[in-house]
Amino acid sequence: MSDRDPPGRGETSVGVPGYVLGETLALSSRYHLRRAVRLSDGLPVVIKSLAAEYPSAREVRQLEFEYRMLNKLRAPGVIGVLDRVKVGEREAIVLEAAGGSDLSSLLSGEIPLDLFFTIAVKLASALGYVQAQNVIHKDIKPRNILFDPRSGALKLIDFSISSELSLCHQGVVSVSQLEGTFPYMSPEQTGRMNRDLDYRTDYYSMGVTLFELLTGSLPFTAMIVNAAHAIGDRVGGTDQKGLIRISTRHEDGMVEISVADTGCGIPEAVRDKIFDPFFTTKEVGKGTGQGLFIARSVVVEKHGGTLTFESEVGKGTTFFVRLPACCSKIVTKTGGWC
Ligand SMILES: Nc1ncnc2c1ncn2[C@@H]1O[C@H](COP(=O)(O)OP(=O)(O)O)[C@@H](O)[C@H]1O
Ligand SMILES: [Mg+2]
Repeated sequence: MSDRDPPGRGETSVGVPGYVLGETLALSSRYHLRRAVRLSDGLPVVIKSLAAEYPSAREVRQLEFEYRMLNKLRAPGVIGVLDRVKVGEREAIVLEAAGGSDLSSLLSGEIPLDLFFTIAVKLASALGYVQAQNVIHKDIKPRNILFDPRSGALKLIDFSISSELSLCHQGVVSVSQLEGTFPYMSPEQTGRMNRDLDYRTDYYSMGVTLFELLTGSLPFTAMIVNAAHAIGDRVGGTDQKGLIRISTRHEDGMVEISVADTGCGIPEAVRDKIFDPFFTTKEVGKGTGQGLFIARSVVVEKHGGTLTFESEVGKGTTFFVRLPACCSKIVTKTGGWC
């Protein structure tokens, strides 16, 4: 799109002084991201503007906050911010145009291990830097991480819901509203645990992100993929079909999610090994042996739930995830621990 194109949803016919607007990269209810070129030196940039014609005070505050955070952070692992402008009447910030694409493009589950570890190390070091600046991102997920395979550069983006911790290294922040993306969100960020939010919430989300990058699915979907594999083992090569039944129920303060399949079942001999890290009965390229190990760590250690199964060889398997349903009230503290 050029600045002379007719305006569409969230778009304006107004240009930005000093820039030539280019194609739209993303348009959501909140933000409009466009490529642009800075006239003074021809530098390619990305302009992130508020999409709503009449944005809420909160949306305006979040964009201002993001500008302030990015200015404060300024590091190779964090997207650079160049300017604050207006697109017509709409507030906007000018961002560095990073190469490559976000990590969602690598979620096929077939990522080469050396690339996985390159990304894992860079992501951990980018988050380590953010943490050292007393900032928590709060929305770490594949879509908020840009990676350029040619230069090897990794950049965190979208600090719109990030928080600044107090000057105290392990300070605490109040959480007044739920923000973030559920599958990647730590239990304390969802408010299900009576625990303050600190930098560890980003490492939790990093763990889920790396899990997804490695296995191609999220911890819960890993169980569904296992069910599909088990059915494939039983009926593969025939014209029979299998069934995966996912049910939920609420009982005694616990929410139970069960994933039942009509697959091959789990032989007695391996039943006490399936939650071990790297234990797999699958051929190379199909299994990593990480699914149940990480699912159990997420369900049992992080959420205080249980993960069990019942299985009959040749008939099928059912996994039961049980999680405490009570929502503890989030405690808001103002002090730190140091
Ligand atoms: N629904 C299931 N039916 C049969 N076997 C299963 C099922 N789920 C898991 N398993 C067994 O547990 C092992 C470990 O599973 P997992 O940790 O997800 O690793 P992976 O799927 O990469 O092998 C699998 O290799 C398989 O032998
Ligand atoms: Mg698996």
